[in-house]
Amino acid sequence: MKKPIPNGIRKKLERAARKVMQHAHAPYSNFHVGAAILLKHGKIFSGCNVENASYGMTNCAERTAIFSAVAAFGPKIEIRAVAVVNDHGGACSPCGACRQVIYEFGPDAIIFFQSANGPKQAHITELLPEGFRLA
Ligand code: THU
Repeated sequence: MKKPIPNGIRKKLERAARKVMQHAHAPYSNFHVGAAILLKHGKIFSGCNVENASYGMTNCAERTAIFSAVAAFGPKIEIRAVAVVNDHGGACSPCGACRQVIYEFGPDAIIFFQSANGPKQAHITELLPEGFRLA
């Protein structure tokens, strides 16, 4: 495991996540989510959830942020940290699909999110033990 993420960086990520949350398209759940990721070289990317009338087509905030970073920099990006916020103030940890996508690009990433017991940080492998990798 690498060096911890400074508080100032966590706050910066949460600010970016909160800002992009305003762009969420969530007319079905009315649950607006924002996520921001910190890349190894220091750049921050953010994304919001984008829902669809065909519910299964919904893209979570975390994946929107990650896919934007890949589109901008290519598949060699490495995620150091992820912050997730929502407009209900309640618990919101990344869903299973997003955990697998975070793991693909950030096998050593730290995730900041709201747990049932308040703000929490966890290593991706705590959230997703034995994530899938093609050998
Ligand atoms: N959602 C996210 O964007 N990220 C999460 O970590 C959990 C859930 C979205 C998906 C859907 O648009 C809404 O929240 C309700 O499930």
